[in-house]
Amino acid sequence: MKATPEALTSLIGQRVDQIDTPALVIDLDAMDRNIQRMAEFARKHQVRWRPHAKMHKSAELALLMQQAGAQGVCVQKVSEAEAMAAGGVQDITITNEVIAMPKLHRAARLAAALASRGGHLALCVDSTEGIERLAEAAALSGSDAGLDVLVEIDVGQGRCGVPPGDSAVALALAVARHPRLHFAGLQAYHGRAQHLATATERREAIAQVVQQAAHTRDLIIAAGLPVPLVTGSGTGTLVNEAASGVYGELQAGSFLFMDADYARNEREPAQPAFEHALFVKTQVISVRDSHAVCDAGHKSHAIDSGLPTVGQLSTGRALRYANGGDEHGLLYAEGDKARLPALGRMLWLIPGHCDPTVNLYDFMIGVRGGLGLGTVERIIRVDARGALT
Ligand SMILES: Cc1ncc(COP(=O)(O)O)c(C=O)c1O
Repeated sequence: MKATPEALTSLIGQRVDQIDTPALVIDLDAMDRNIQRMAEFARKHQVRWRPHAKMHKSAELALLMQQAGAQGVCVQKVSEAEAMAAGGVQDITITNEVIAMPKLHRAARLAAALASRGGHLALCVDSTEGIERLAEAAALSGSDAGLDVLVEIDVGQGRCGVPPGDSAVALALAVARHPRLHFAGLQAYHGRAQHLATATERREAIAQVVQQAAHTRDLIIAAGLPVPLVTGSGTGTLVNEAASGVYGELQAGSFLFMDADYARNEREPAQPAFEHALFVKTQVISVRDSHAVCDAGHKSHAIDSGLPTVGQLSTGRALRYANGGDEHGLLYAEGDKARLPALGRMLWLIPGHCDPTVNLYDFMIGVRGGLGLGTVERIIRVDARGALT
């Protein structure tokens, strides 16, 4: 039977070995250390952090980071924003363009509801038509609160955003002409730069990003409009944007859990030492001469950014995970003295990519005291699971 919320709640206080597999487990101690490191980093650089909730999708975790100093959340979708607001988050930025009128009406209603409790909703635009649609939705909402609007510039990602420079100035001025829209600044996010393997490559990529963002900001100011904020950045390059003096806010999300993909890249020495905090607990269900098989396949973790790695066993044995299909993982012993794990052995997989892995689960199981002998402290709901609209 599928694990019900009640069954999961009954795990609270029990040892980790009682968690059935496969299960998505948070090492709460490691996660707390990541939060503290991020908070300290942001304080030191005097920059705001607005963690991307498209990664953890949990209002509880968003509020936890807010208590540590985070400025609300980023989300990618209106429905994610609604899920965060329903869970008590008040300050939300949709780091994305929203074009469909029904979605924009929802966004405008949400903005009005948040404003009535002292909160904010911001979203991105990269077209005049997008601005007109946004203005129409804000006007029809019947609220005076209006909407905060960020103009997105494409600083190398090749996704949304207008080119830096004059096109962005025109959009910023167009936003400012609408009484219910407030120009809130620029979004300049380079997603591919996050995953460049070396610190030098990332530094060089972000140097160009910063230059384009600063140039665009200065042009808008010269056109007579203040630019309250430049926002962007992710876990791979936050060191670079934070040191730039141009970015006022970091949108990094993955630092909270740190997936295997991020861990493969060279760490910039100044980057906080974020630890893996999200694991798929799995059990060995078959052992052959050449390999073992566990019960977590790619229905248990996303494989778009590579396969999971296997958490270090207490015996020091290294295992390589290979794709065994939807419901199976193949485990190979690495190195001369390596041995396969025994039948029934519990293992901890580090997902290749946290965001789509979290989206596969209704709940995450929070463990305190380590994955070896710890106990289940709380069950954390994935509030925005499947929130795609
Ligand atoms: C617009 C935007 N900002 C920030 C992030 C956060 O990046 P990360 O989770 O790699 O820290 C993402 C992730 O894709 C994003 O799309």
